[in-house]
Amino acid sequence: MKIGIIGLGNMGRSFAKAFVKGGYSVVASTRHPEKEKELNEFITLYNDNKKVAEEAEILFFAVKPYQLEEVMDEVRSSLGNPLIVSMAVGKSLDWIQETLGDFGILRIMPNTPVAVGKGVTVYTANEEVTDSQRMQFREIMQYTGEIKEIQETEMNVFSAVSGSLPAFVAMMIEGLSDGAVHEGMKRQDSYETIANTIIGTCTLLLEEGLQPGVLKDQVTSPGGTTIEGVRVLEEKGVRGAFMESIIGTVDKNKEIG
Ligand SMILES: NC(=O)c1ccc[n+]([C@@H]2O[C@H](COP(=O)([O-])OP(=O)(O)OC[C@H]3O[C@@H](n4cnc5c(N)ncnc54)[C@H](OP(=O)(O)O)[C@@H]3O)[C@@H](O)[C@H]2O)c1
Repeated sequence: MKIGIIGLGNMGRSFAKAFVKGGYSVVASTRHPEKEKELNEFITLYNDNKKVAEEAEILFFAVKPYQLEEVMDEVRSSLGNPLIVSMAVGKSLDWIQETLGDFGILRIMPNTPVAVGKGVTVYTANEEVTDSQRMQFREIMQYTGEIKEIQETEMNVFSAVSGSLPAFVAMMIEGLSDGAVHEGMKRQDSYETIANTIIGTCTLLLEEGLQPGVLKDQVTSPGGTTIEGVRVLEEKGVRGAFMESIIGTVDKNKEIG
């Protein structure tokens, strides 16, 4: 199966690497093939979107939302009958079908950990997607991390807690690390300790099924040190801030969608 990718930026490059790892044949287009020395060895690179559109059996559009219409117009007449995959924020299945034509279309929302095979990608399909196309898609996506099929109406909220979330988690890590550095810890030690503790806590949640409240209560002994930290976080409104950030992100998604 030949996978095509148009646009080799952050996401396009991450998907290309994941699919190469899975042993798939990948063709991609870039306006700067000379810069892609690392990928050049493993994938076929063209400075021509139409060639990718001609060859691909599954075709990923990984350009920015405002670039998508122009790129789709450019390649429409070169398409065979590929499964179309768009990751553009705010571009609906209907919009893609109107712009490109009657293809099996998947609208996906990935996140940056796709680059290390630990991404979370949600997707929604139009009615033209066949069972075998769905299976092929699920098969290739196993090299990118977790995937989940959702309703298109859920896309905005899933976008907030998957596509946008690495930024919020990174901000949380920065704040925690600044506190540790203030108290004399080396920056790198703080990143490693915090990141590994987050992974461990999340593993308890996912593998042992422990609710966040239980995970918190396990660490807070009466009159102890951790409940003091919890008091400060509550005083600063940290949970309300996280909640508002998700609501704000969803509102913005609705505005551009
Ligand atoms: N980044 C995220 O966390 C994230 C999460 C979820 C979804 N997404 C979606 O993923 C898509 C890509 O985002 P990104 O962050 O990867 O953006 P990006 O890093 O800016 O990558 C976009 C790429 O598309 C290329 N491109 C633009 N116009 C082109 C054309 N006419 N022909 C060929 N290539 C063209 C750009 O090349 P040049 O360098 O030549 O301009 C660039 O390499 C967007 O639709 C975004 O909504 C991103």
